[in-house]
Amino acid sequence: MPQLEKTILEVQDLSIAYPITIGVVRAVEGVSFTLDDGEALGLVGESGCGKSTLGLSILKLHRPPGRVTGGKILYRGTDILSMSDRALLKMRGQNISMIFQNPLTSLNPLFTVEKHFLETIHFHDASMPRERARAAVGKMLETLGIEKKRLKEYPHQLSGGMRQRIMIGLALIMNPDIIIADEPTTSLDVIVEAGFTDLLMSLRSIYKLSIILITHNLGLVAEIADRIAVMYAGRLMEVATTEEIFAHPLHPYTQGLIACVPNILVDQKELVTMPGSPPDLVDRPAGCPFAPRCPQVIPICRQKTPALIQHAPSHSAACWLYRQKEG
Ligand SMILES: Nc1ncnc2c1ncn2[C@@H]1O[C@H](COP(=O)(O)OP(=O)(O)O)[C@@H](O)[C@H]1O
Ligand SMILES: [Mg+2]
Repeated sequence: MPQLEKTILEVQDLSIAYPITIGVVRAVEGVSFTLDDGEALGLVGESGCGKSTLGLSILKLHRPPGRVTGGKILYRGTDILSMSDRALLKMRGQNISMIFQNPLTSLNPLFTVEKHFLETIHFHDASMPRERARAAVGKMLETLGIEKKRLKEYPHQLSGGMRQRIMIGLALIMNPDIIIADEPTTSLDVIVEAGFTDLLMSLRSIYKLSIILITHNLGLVAEIADRIAVMYAGRLMEVATTEEIFAHPLHPYTQGLIACVPNILVDQKELVTMPGSPPDLVDRPAGCPFAPRCPQVIPICRQKTPALIQHAPSHSAACWLYRQKEG
């Protein structure tokens, strides 16, 4: 990645916990990463590893009883976590926007498509004349390839793919510079998913967006992301450019994830799945969280947690094995 690109978002040593009756769920632990202007970062990992918790925290929208127990989230140098509620309301949508997993639960069943757009604009800019707002909505629909007549329809009248397009339009209508998309294609079928990927790529260049794409689907991020951050049990295991991750995965967890991506070039008799399951985030064992499932585990892995260390200019990993090999 070019070194000149400006960092637009910086997450520093972030930890988020959910205190529950049986203990404390440590959903995010000491996570640090940066996002450059115009960059697309893929955040991947199995279900329950803390991806959504991390994504929501960037908008300071963590679900109750979630609490930030440490760290900072800097948007253009300002810590989001210490912003006032008023500033947060403006920031969400105008600077950073989110596309959620299930569009049907995020759209209001009683609002037409048009009302969704006009309400969103009015919320952020109450003084915008209605005609200008309508013109902005019309332009957005054109960009999204949606017919104008859809404006009068209600969410239940739209297909899954169309709803997801509307969600993207709503996320972009105030011209934010960062989009966080959390499993945006989970509710779509494969053909619609392919269309979504193309749309996201074209919107990215039209709007000069920075993107954080959250998904368990390594194949999907490979198409969109410049860099990939691999998350496991609340921690980042590896961060590298997409090329590096696939060409030289350092962490055994990343290697396992890649082995599970269906490959049409290799004659695979059956889909590979990784043995074992992620650890309980309440009662964490000492050491690397992946150690119990790791095919290359060595004694130190069970005693001390490895830090995320930079091994090459754009490649970091948190793995004792690799550090031992190097030293
Ligand atoms: N509101 C909540 N209360 C308690 N625990 C939660 C809550 N939301 C998520 N968790 C727990 O936090 C961990 C991370 O969840 P999540 O961020 O949703 O992971 P992912 O998006 O990777 O599937 C999981 O163990 C999950 O059970
Ligand atoms: Mg999630």
